[in-house]
Amino acid sequence: MKKDTHLVRAGRRSPKEGTVNPPLHRASTVLFPSVAALEGRGQLPPHSLTYGRYGTPITFALAEAISGLEGGHDTWLFPSGLAAITCACLAFLKSGDHLLMVDSVYGPTRRFCDKELTRFGIETTYYDPMLGADVAGLMRPETKVVFVESPGSITFEVQDVPAIAQAAHGAGAVVLMDNTWATPLFFKPLEHGVDVALTAMTKYLGGHSDLMMGSATTSEAAWPALKRAAFHLGLCTSPDDCYLALRGLRTLGVRLERHQQSGLALARWLAGQPQVERVLHPALASCPGHEFWARDFSGASGLFAVVLEPCRRDSLEAMLDGLEHFGMGYSWGGYESLILPLDPARDRTATQWDGPGPLLRIHAGLEDVADLIADLEEGLGKLVME
Ligand SMILES: Cc1ncc(COP(=O)(O)O)c(C=O)c1O
Repeated sequence: MKKDTHLVRAGRRSPKEGTVNPPLHRASTVLFPSVAALEGRGQLPPHSLTYGRYGTPITFALAEAISGLEGGHDTWLFPSGLAAITCACLAFLKSGDHLLMVDSVYGPTRRFCDKELTRFGIETTYYDPMLGADVAGLMRPETKVVFVESPGSITFEVQDVPAIAQAAHGAGAVVLMDNTWATPLFFKPLEHGVDVALTAMTKYLGGHSDLMMGSATTSEAAWPALKRAAFHLGLCTSPDDCYLALRGLRTLGVRLERHQQSGLALARWLAGQPQVERVLHPALASCPGHEFWARDFSGASGLFAVVLEPCRRDSLEAMLDGLEHFGMGYSWGGYESLILPLDPARDRTATQWDGPGPLLRIHAGLEDVADLIADLEEGLGKLVME
């Protein structure tokens, strides 16, 4: 099945009869007809109904749909993207272990390492996202996890994931990847050597800014550890949210194409503006690691950044406050356009941020791109350059 057909068919019993969408069961308790059935529940096949926390039919339908998209063995669904990330780390790390974490990682993932993993005696070393196969030089006997996020949060460096995975596996570590930006439609982590593909479904899979959810899809070898940690940490999702996620999934292909087109149109237009110092969009040559994007990805989503020339802070605020179509708020991947002023220097320890002016992260929504460009043009006109 091609990917767009999979998006329509996945998680549905029959395309020819019954309701189009799978039924939604709200459940905690599940009844067993006999003592033998109750006591034999551990031997049931995967995705059997035993207790609400372990999933209901719609959870299983969604997990199967995501596993199919990722080309993975199985998928666990989490109450947020961050919960998927933290559970995956806990699944493969124990006291005394060492974690290699990319320096351009999503800020809350960094804080989990610095504030929580340290409490359990797990040490994190941050590495330059451009390191590639040279991460081998940072591996120690106790390095158990190498974490990649490509492109990087805020600064969009694209990593050489296959080279990093080879170096990690050579030293006996597993590779976890935050693949939220590309979604499994534009990059398939497991095909590039990653053991656990992590997605904040809150973004593009949900697609409508009304859902919190995360997924972890693993290889067959990595599944038992991930599943054990998710079981023991009690992480689960509500059936209503799974329903929303499945609905988002049906239109993911067409939405992403449009986010891609509009994001590229905005990025190319912005690159020609005198107030813009550089554009950080993985599909443009000006982005560090663009060659890996061109080699490994089949598309670009709608999130990118621009680095402005130095300008007065009050004029930047006037620009952002006055935009009509770009909202300011956290998260991204919904149908609406967003813009945020962010400071990459705040969250870096292995590399230095050298932007001369402020950085703006932009999410291209599904509005008409001409309206978006007109809005940005008016906004940029308010900047007073230094
Ligand atoms: C790259 C990336 N990963 C993970 C997350 C966390 O997702 P959630 O907000 O669902 O916890 C975010 C949220 O902004 C993100 O941008």
